[in-house]
Amino acid sequence: MNEYTYGFMDVLLGLQWGDEGKGKHIDALLCLDKDGKLRYHNVARFQGGPNAGHTLEVGKIKFVSHMIPSGCLNKKINNYIGNGMVIDPVILMDEIKQLKKLGIDITKRLFISDRATLISPYAPLLDRAEDFRKSRKGDDKKVGTTAKGIGPAYSDKCLRIAFKAGDILSKTFFDDVAIMRNYYGAILRMYKNEYDFEFNRDALMKRVNDWYRAIKQMRKLMIIDVGAKLRKELARGRNILAEGAQGILLDVDHGDYPNVTSSSTLPANAALGLGVPFQVIRDVYGVMKPYGTKVGGGAYPSRMDPVTEEQFREAGNEYGATTGRPRMCGWLDMPALIYALELSGVNKILISKADVCPAHEVRVVLAYKSGKKILKEFPRKLDSVTGVVTRKFKGWDCSSVKNISKIDLPSSLANYLHFLKNEIELKTGKSVLIESIGIGPERSQLVKWEK
Ligand code: IMP
Repeated sequence: MNEYTYGFMDVLLGLQWGDEGKGKHIDALLCLDKDGKLRYHNVARFQGGPNAGHTLEVGKIKFVSHMIPSGCLNKKINNYIGNGMVIDPVILMDEIKQLKKLGIDITKRLFISDRATLISPYAPLLDRAEDFRKSRKGDDKKVGTTAKGIGPAYSDKCLRIAFKAGDILSKTFFDDVAIMRNYYGAILRMYKNEYDFEFNRDALMKRVNDWYRAIKQMRKLMIIDVGAKLRKELARGRNILAEGAQGILLDVDHGDYPNVTSSSTLPANAALGLGVPFQVIRDVYGVMKPYGTKVGGGAYPSRMDPVTEEQFREAGNEYGATTGRPRMCGWLDMPALIYALELSGVNKILISKADVCPAHEVRVVLAYKSGKKILKEFPRKLDSVTGVVTRKFKGWDCSSVKNISKIDLPSSLANYLHFLKNEIELKTGKSVLIESIGIGPERSQLVKWEK
């Protein structure tokens, strides 16, 4: 590859359990670089589906995207749904309509991989059925999925029975889907007969009809070989920003299985999920909050006490963008963060919501306890953790920050950030750049911390 003409791909992802505020940083990264050139012409999502909810705010426009990549509000940028994604046609078409109402016709700038997997009409119901089975009779092992059909869609893909976006262009597509009706119907009957899972047939019929209607509309979109198009873009020297969804700790292989999502959230998957060679990856941006949040099932050892948690939830508006569920709030979990950094190779850190600190004192989890043992590393299963070792820090208040500059940040926040950087470098043996600190929802409220 000729490094002078060939483009590169940066990857941006969440370093925690999702909801780190990735959308806002993507918007800022898409701005022109210091030479006035567009940094990226292409924003591409490589995994997940409508389980994500990226809140984008540009000027007066606010848009929560679930399927469409976060470059959608910027008219100069092409957006891609990669082969590694799972698509819900109903949600996708609905988002396209919402954007149209905001005056944005995304259809000319949205490329959908013909290899991306379709979420079947039955998948969201099967998703609920499986979580219901796991939570029966007080034995609450449910994952607490977003119920968007993500797990069933990825399992269809691995079973090699899924429909791909490219299939919808075939004349026999609806007949092919009809053949699968019996298969999905039999699984649903199994959940009903074996596990007493009840569902509303009318709602299912409506979902099936909506899905068929959305497929017909989707046929007008640009469904192409996205990998080939992105490789051509790179060959022209144009860059890609690969947008991760969820977070590293929800990775299907490396997270706290089974309390994970169904795809790989690691940057290595960006190449696989888009169809480009892995050598094109340049910087890996990791987004994090100075505290943590988590939704869904599974242990969460760093969780705050209920009163403090409520304060953080309210101050940080920690409610799911996809499901509206209240998020659990926890202290910054250092072993989990180090694990995420080591796994992902993040070299640039972007911090969101540094202004959210409604407490006089904050804590950082330095290690876990498991009975009498101290665990310094993120374990394979978090339910083996019985307690945490924490260190206290003075809280901060950003409300009086006037100049959006490093020197204007409260000294206790600055101390916290210095501690964070030192600890990361000590533990990972690698230097990282803490690039910017978000102290409010606006693009203008990003403080440059290190260059
Ligand atoms: P699924 O991805 O809907 O199958 O959900 C699996 C787990 O990942 C559940 O614990 C969800 O709460 C969590 N999850 C999925 N997507 C997100 C996200 O975008 N933010 C935070 N948690 C998520």
